[in-house]
Amino acid sequence: MFEIIIILLLSYLLGSIPFALLVGKIGYGIDIREHGSGNLGGTNTFRTLGKKAGFIVSAADVLKGTLAASLPILLDVDLHPLIAGVPAVIGHCYPVFAKFKGGKAVATSGGVLLFAQPLLFVLVLFTFFLTLYISKYVSLSSIMAGVGSVVLSFFIAGDWLTTYILIGFTLFLVYRHRQNIVRIAKKTEPKVKWI
Ligand code: G3P
Repeated sequence: MFEIIIILLLSYLLGSIPFALLVGKIGYGIDIREHGSGNLGGTNTFRTLGKKAGFIVSAADVLKGTLAASLPILLDVDLHPLIAGVPAVIGHCYPVFAKFKGGKAVATSGGVLLFAQPLLFVLVLFTFFLTLYISKYVSLSSIMAGVGSVVLSFFIAGDWLTTYILIGFTLFLVYRHRQNIVRIAKKTEPKVKWI
C-alpha cells in the first residue's frame, strides 16, 4: 500500500510540472497565463509563442503522462498504468507548482494512454487530427479524441477497467473545456489556420 501511495504522489508531482509556464518564462520571458486563453497547455503555447515552443510543451506534457503511467513497472509495483496516470492528469490541471491553475488534461491524458494502450493512442490521435482538419477547433478535437478513446476502447482495450477510466478522463476533459464549449456555441472560439 505504501508503494502505491508513493507512486500516486510521484505521478501528481510529475503532472504538476508546468512546462508551458517554464518554456514561456525561461525561453521567452513571457507568462502565457496572461495571453490567449490563459491555459497552461500546448495549444495556448502554439498560439502565444509559436510552433517550436508549442511542440516542445506538447511533447513534454505527453511525456510526463507516459512517465507517470510507467511508474508501476519502473518501481516494480502491481498497479494498473492508467490508475498510476490519473494523479498526473489531475496535477497537470491543478499543479502544485503553479497555484493550482494548469491545463485542460489533453496531452497528459494522451501520454498516459500512450503507455497503457499504444494502439488505442494512435487511433485516438488520428481522431484528434481528423476532427481538427474538418473543424479547425483544437478544443473540439480534444473532446472528440476523448469520446473516441471511450468508444474505441470497447473494441481494443480488452478490459472494462480501461473503459471506465477513459470515461472518467473524458468527463473530466469535457468539464475542463466547458468555456471552450460555450465559445464554440457562440462561434467565438478561435480556429487554427495551419491545418
Ligand atoms: O489543449 C487544450 C485545448 O483543447 C484547448 O486549449 O487554449 O484553446 O483553451 P485552449
